[in-house]
Amino acid sequence: MHALASPAETLRTALAGLLEDLPPKAAAQAVDRLIANYRGTTPTGAPVLRDRADVTAYAAYRMPATFEAARSALAALAAAAPADFSPADHVDIGGGTGAATWAVNAVWPGGRPVTVLDWAEPALALGREIAAANAELAAARWQRARISAALDVPAAALVTVSYVLGELTADDRAAVVDAAARAATDAVVVVEPGTPGGYARVIAARDRLVGAGYRVAAPCPHSSACPIVPGDDWCHFSVRVARSSLHRQVKGGSLAYEDEKFSYVAAVRDTAVPALPAARRVVRKPQIRKGQVLLDLCEAEGELRRETVTKRHGGLYRAARDTAWGDAWPPAGAGG
Ligand SMILES: C[S@@+](CC[C@H](N)C(=O)[O-])C[C@H]1O[C@@H](n2cnc3c(N)ncnc32)[C@H](O)[C@@H]1O
Repeated sequence: MHALASPAETLRTALAGLLEDLPPKAAAQAVDRLIANYRGTTPTGAPVLRDRADVTAYAAYRMPATFEAARSALAALAAAAPADFSPADHVDIGGGTGAATWAVNAVWPGGRPVTVLDWAEPALALGREIAAANAELAAARWQRARISAALDVPAAALVTVSYVLGELTADDRAAVVDAAARAATDAVVVVEPGTPGGYARVIAARDRLVGAGYRVAAPCPHSSACPIVPGDDWCHFSVRVARSSLHRQVKGGSLAYEDEKFSYVAAVRDTAVPALPAARRVVRKPQIRKGQVLLDLCEAEGELRRETVTKRHGGLYRAARDTAWGDAWPPAGAGG
């Protein structure tokens, strides 16, 4: 008997199936267009994802990475939230082909009412098609909506805004975060590319969410100002993504994976989700030296600090060697 496929596997299979209908040359051209468009000056006045080839290219080329980034951010929220937390319903703003809806389903399995809002009809249509492969997403509502100050977001436990802010004007960025803050009864999760610009947009969103009464559940161990000096550095994380055949075809080379860099904030309404943020978070790739591990940590007091964990620390040292960029520190149960 076969074990049930995970949402990640089901998504991978559904995305691979899409490419069967798109000749390799057309797919490669659509990816080139996509990359050129995303390199162009944003925000755009009209959807970048205009037709079936565009959205197929987006889904096959980018969605595995945005899915994994969103899944990491949501998993960090799950780790901070009480063990029995699972959002009763979900709205995904600028949801496109639905990466974040798959990520929510991967972190909290089970069916729930889901609404995806986006202004690009071809993206919604493809998202609906892909979601048909997952019984728990098959009933999702895919609704055309333009992000603006007039955007009406239905109330839901969880509202996600994944890889969207970078496509908006400053006014629309503020409007969508405020709309998400009003609509969410439990939590808002914002994910952006792990670039200085993506980080700056996440920090601006974080400020607005905290201003609206939310508390940061992840990645920050605190809800005070971010200790990073803007322009000096940017807080971001990394997740490994298996490359699709289209990826390999377009990018060449034989690497079976690539690392997606992302910035995020998960914020909760304290009264609904009494989250316990990580005591400290590893905010850079740990440096493993002979007999010691250097950890760059963001701390509950809202400060950055480097900790050196040596062999003399015993169990903690072994835990440090297994600790990854983005993890909470110390891990539960790590002894000295
Ligand atoms: C980079 S894609 C991200 C899609 C999806 N959230 C993900 O994580 O893969 C950006 C999405 O934002 C949508 N979008 C951009 N500007 C918008 C606007 N003004 N109103 C509604 N949707 C918008 C695009 O159509 C697109 O689907």
